[in-house]
Amino acid sequence: MIVKKGIVVLDFGGQYTQLIARRIREQEVFSAILPCNAKLEEIRRYDPAGIILSGGPSSVYDKDAPVCDPEVLRSAVPVLGICYGMQWMAHTLGGNVQPAERREYGRAQLEREGESKLFNGVPRSLRIWNSHGDHVVGLPSGFVVTGRTANAVAAIENAAAKLCAVEFHPEVLHTEFGTEILQNFVFAVCGATKNWDRAGFIGETVAAIQRQVGDARALCALSGGVDSAVAAALVHRAIGDRLTNVFVDTGMLRKNEYQDTLELLRKRVGLNVDGVDASKRFLSRLEGVTDPETKRKTIGADFIAVFAEEARKLSEQSTNGAGKIRFLVQGTLYPDVIESVSVKGPSATIKTHHNVGGLPKDMPFELIEPLRDLFKDEVRRIGRELGLPEEILVKHPFPGPGLAVRLIGEITRERLDTLRAADAVVVEEIRNAGLYEKVWQAFAVLLPVRSVGVMGDGRTYGDTIVVRVVDSQDAMTADWSRLPREVLEKISTRVVNEVAGVNRVVYDISSKPPSTIEWE
Ligand code: XMP
Repeated sequence: MIVKKGIVVLDFGGQYTQLIARRIREQEVFSAILPCNAKLEEIRRYDPAGIILSGGPSSVYDKDAPVCDPEVLRSAVPVLGICYGMQWMAHTLGGNVQPAERREYGRAQLEREGESKLFNGVPRSLRIWNSHGDHVVGLPSGFVVTGRTANAVAAIENAAAKLCAVEFHPEVLHTEFGTEILQNFVFAVCGATKNWDRAGFIGETVAAIQRQVGDARALCALSGGVDSAVAAALVHRAIGDRLTNVFVDTGMLRKNEYQDTLELLRKRVGLNVDGVDASKRFLSRLEGVTDPETKRKTIGADFIAVFAEEARKLSEQSTNGAGKIRFLVQGTLYPDVIESVSVKGPSATIKTHHNVGGLPKDMPFELIEPLRDLFKDEVRRIGRELGLPEEILVKHPFPGPGLAVRLIGEITRERLDTLRAADAVVVEEIRNAGLYEKVWQAFAVLLPVRSVGVMGDGRTYGDTIVVRVVDSQDAMTADWSRLPREVLEKISTRVVNEVAGVNRVVYDISSKPPSTIEWE
């Protein structure tokens, strides 16, 4: 989607690039992410009011340091460089950048200098989240310093050329007045006006789906999560009962999830949902499998096979009715789309995520991806406007392979029941403490490790449950939640008392990176 007069973010491979684009959209101004090496014509198609150069892990002196077309800096469109974006801007315009050994992040204090539209209404001294990497030590001609930290020049600009740059990250919440700085860039420096309106989004998307589908039928695989539910609700609004949804019980869902989700989506959202209990098939195929990637691949392949079977059945049933199913609905989000075009290219496979994208070639579906321009928080808001129940909208993300990747070692019905029971306690206590909507995810993991304990007067040799609760904004990075001790205590006591066979509970205090959120 192209909305003109928004902000184009050129991606140098920084971990916060998506966050920059989201922050701009929070101002109701359209933003799109393009790889830094996007051609000028591609950038011009957006007719941007402004351009932001993202941060990135490189040094401008690296052999294959990422670069933009330098014309970007001469096109009279205002540019804000952030972190690496600042260094690249300074370096390219003839300034002097001093290389550093390695890049680190941390807090620093910014002291402003002079006046700058970028800092309208911002105090003279503020706490920022800085990147300790290369530093600008000599300014390009026409530039002045607008801020410093104890160590370095931290903000520069050439107001006449509408170029400004900061070494710190205004997009992260740890930077005080970061939102104001981005707002100043968008409105005061670029003169953008609000052009990203969610109410308009629903109407336009529904009309576009109606044009695309005509009087054909569509199919959607529901996962029980937010994205597929919102995608289904949008398509349902467009084509009504010509949308059929399929929800597969893999046998690895959370406690009561299959029945509760079916009921919620059928009764409260009014969706036409086929429930398919395929748990026997999934569990028998997983017998003896312990390797995480084999688990993921086996489940992914099975899921696609089950879904394809359902699609064939439904299509055959309908040949003398309203016509074959020609469309497949997917809840693909903007981050998935950017991932495949980013400068880094498709990121290295750390874990094989599954969705129904890998359907057999003989299934001639066209895709409908109504959310492919949205971020998760935007999807939640759209869902709310469509009247979806809060239970679905605030639900924690759940991996496609389900509990299989939270049960380390071999998957058996018995072990799944143990994990399900422990997981239900963790989630319930997090809810009771009023934390469910504050944390990103909260769940239990079952280890293949037994340990000695004592219960009553007897020795036990029981299972270990890990409690995993993390804070995150986008799952790209995450930190373990500093839960109150009383909550941890309650969880631990209840799990040991209520879940047969478990005598030990541990809390996972690893952040991502270097760990991941899930254990497999
Ligand atoms: P990791 O474990 O990689 O997870 O830090 C990041 C986020 O992705 C979720 N996740 C998945 N979601 N299919 C999904 O739709 C999957 O296969 C999958 N694996 C992990 C995970 O719960 C976390 O929110």
